Amino acid sequence: MIYARIAGTGSCLPGNPVSNDDLVARGIDTSDEWIVTRSGIHSRHLAAADVGASDLARIAAEHAIEAAGCEPEDIDLIIVATSTPDYIFPSTAALVQAKLGIRNGCAAFDVQAVCSGFVYALSVAEKFIRSGSHARALVIGAEVFSRILDWSDRATCVLFGDGAGAVVLEASERPGIRASSLHADGSHHPILCVPGGVASGQVIGDPFLRMDGQAVFKFAVKVLGDVALQVLEQAGEEAGSVDWLIPHQANIRIIQATAKRLGLPMERVITTVGHHGNTSAASIPLALDEAVRGGQVHRGQRLIIEGVGGGFTWGAALIDF
Ligand code: ACO
Repeated sequence: MIYARIAGTGSCLPGNPVSNDDLVARGIDTSDEWIVTRSGIHSRHLAAADVGASDLARIAAEHAIEAAGCEPEDIDLIIVATSTPDYIFPSTAALVQAKLGIRNGCAAFDVQAVCSGFVYALSVAEKFIRSGSHARALVIGAEVFSRILDWSDRATCVLFGDGAGAVVLEASERPGIRASSLHADGSHHPILCVPGGVASGQVIGDPFLRMDGQAVFKFAVKVLGDVALQVLEQAGEEAGSVDWLIPHQANIRIIQATAKRLGLPMERVITTVGHHGNTSAASIPLALDEAVRGGQVHRGQRLIIEGVGGGFTWGAALIDF
């Protein structure tokens, strides 16, 4: 039996932290108190104008490859989850392959599931590995969400940040990813979307993120609880056997509500939203890498990762790390 295990993690945050007070100083009509109370966010990182998702992804990937003890040429599949690609095409994954100097012709493609993107990408990579067709995948979540924020809309621009996280997922005789569950319901697309595109050299529609915050909040709390319970049931495990919940880092109140539904104390939840903000597809691998390097997450521990995002999409995975 072939399983897929996480062999190494890495991440990248651009520049210095930008605090809530820094946003006020930049002219946004908000306050540290409002942002912290509503979201738990104190600061975030914002990429410089000449830094793209593939640049952040490349650095996160290098750290993950080093941690996995392999070489770039050993990678035979690259999947990047992003909603803020460098280009319409080629894929960010193809650009990352070039930036890493990988010349072995391995498959490379992007997955677009917004804030659930990393869970989707990891689950897809796991299926390639378990089929026996691929042996070592680089799975990356990378975003420059600052590019799609309307900085005159204070209800959204204060919530997001930029960054990238990566894992190397490799074939193993021991179980790693024990269960995964992916879902979508496109009928909810109006409550969180960037309803624009490019045609004939022009932006058609609206190029900025639009969100009905309260509707998103209610939807997220419901599906995150449901999908975490689904992967536990698939694997025949109880929530009590989980060492760490690593949820998408959108909002501390959504995270607290999910932990409560699972009966997990906040001491067993990895939270980075306070200093990363919501980095969409990057948030889970960023949190995982920080927890691994910070000594919280250890080999042999059991993790649940879970995300929800525009689409709506949502998903979870139960992982023996
Ligand atoms: N600073 C100060 N005041 C603000 C700000 C701000 N940044 N933004 C909005 N306000 C004001 C509004 O104008 C409004 O004022 P009014 O009462 O005078 O009209 C007031 O604050 C309340 O606005 P609401 O939108 O009702 O605020 P709410 O309490 O719902 O909090 C929030 C907004 C934080 C977005 C909340 O709905 C939420 O957490 N939603 C979840 C959405 C989320 O996390 N999305 C992340 C992306 S989706 C994902 O990753 C799954």
